[in-house]
Formats: sequence, structure tokens, C-alpha cells
Amino acid sequence: MPEVSRDYHVAKDSPVSVSEITDGIYRISGFVKEFGITFNQFLINDEKPTLIHTGPIGLYERVEEKVREIISLDKLSYVAFLHFESDEWGGMEFLKTPGVKLLCSDLSSKLNLVGWNNVPVNHISFWDNETIKTGRRTLRFIMTPHVHHWDSMMIFEDTTKSLFTSDLFIQPGDNKPTVSDDLSESMIALYKAAGIFASEGPVRQTTRRLVKMEPRMVFPMHGSCIDKSTFPKYADAIMRNEFAYSDVLLGQKLEVS
Ligand SMILES: [Fe+2]
Ligand SMILES: [Fe+2]
Repeated sequence: MPEVSRDYHVAKDSPVSVSEITDGIYRISGFVKEFGITFNQFLINDEKPTLIHTGPIGLYERVEEKVREIISLDKLSYVAFLHFESDEWGGMEFLKTPGVKLLCSDLSSKLNLVGWNNVPVNHISFWDNETIKTGRRTLRFIMTPHVHHWDSMMIFEDTTKSLFTSDLFIQPGDNKPTVSDDLSESMIALYKAAGIFASEGPVRQTTRRLVKMEPRMVFPMHGSCIDKSTFPKYADAIMRNEFAYSDVLLGQKLEVS
């Protein structure tokens, strides 16, 4: 049986770039060749700057460098993670910065932050539709259970109508920060190959709700940001296609005897 070292999947040499997507909201993106996808973090630069996701630990130094190009690190107030997974918050080093607080869903708190050794417990958790002000911005927390984890949530920034969807509406490849091309076919193919959703039901229920919120810009964790003119195509693709796990996990067929 192959041994797995801590450096496995670490993406240490991946390039990381930063670009402003919409007024004061930055995408810090690392393209990881071995997976063929980008890992995107988003910095909302406000009175209380907030980072959404940290990226995996291998990207930490370069993500931190990019955050420092925008704000001084001691200004960072909040780090939000949208479900418990290493690409979401493998860069927990951010939490060592004095004054930084972790934001997460109520379920993430109850299931994943309480009852472990050496896991930070200094956090604020949110139930569905609860909000926090970061200055002129308001972050609204949307609980999205089973998209794709039990504890999953998303964030809607009310003033710019920016929607942070984590692993929903993701696309493979290293495309521009924002694209208006319809990449929904490759999104569906990626979901089938990765096997991240147990079933379509909760994903479609969430998608219906998100469409009603009329986001101006959608910020997925992998791939390009999607503006309001293209977003309906991605939502339609979720409603029309099958993409739930069948027998393939991260591109590998699982033979069950
Ligand atoms: Fe995930
Ligand atoms: Fe992810």
C-alpha cells in the first residue's frame, strides 16, 4: 500500500495571482496543474477586511503575500470557511494573526470545531440568513446543507449582490478571472468525474433559492467568476443534467464487489 506524505496534494509551486473583480472584492487564485483547476480565495476589503476561504496549506505563503499586497495583514478581521475541507481552510495560519476571527456555519461549529484537540474554537457561527456587518458591506450566511457537505454554507454580500458559492458552479481550467463564455458543460463533466454530490436534490433546491436572490456576480471557489448575464446558463445546467455520484471519485472508478 503506498504511503502518503504530508506533501501529497500540496501544490507548492503553483502560481498565484490577484485581481479585483468588483468594487473592493479581490480574487486570489492559484492554478494547480495536477488537478487542472484553480483554487480561489476572495478578499472583501472593507473596514473589517474578510477573507473567504484560505486555500490549501501549500498555497498559504503565496496567498498570504497577495493578501498583503491589498491590506496589511494585521488589518485582517475575519476568515470565513464555507465547509470543512482542506482547500477551504488548509491555510489556518491566517488565524494566528492577532484579532482574526473565524466565521462559519452553525453546523461547522457543532460538527467540526467543537470537541477536537488543537482546533481553534475562537469563532462566530451563523444560522441561515443571519448577517454580519464588515463596514459598508453586509455578509449574509446561507445554509446549503449537502451542497456538497453536511455543514456547507454560502455567503451573499448584500450591497454588491455578490454570491460566494464555494464548490457550486465551479469550472476546470485556468481561465480569466471573469468569463462570459458558457462553461456549464465542463462544470457538469467535472462534477461527474469528481463525484462530490451524493444526489442532485439538495443542489437543485439551493440553486432555485440562489437564482431568486438575483446575484450580480457569482464567485465560485474553482474557475472563473460568473456575471449575471451568464449565471442563468449554469443554473439551467444544474436543473437539466444529471451529475450526482455514480461510481467515479476524483476521476477514478470505484469497483465495489
Ligand atoms: Fe469542497
Ligand atoms: Fe473547493
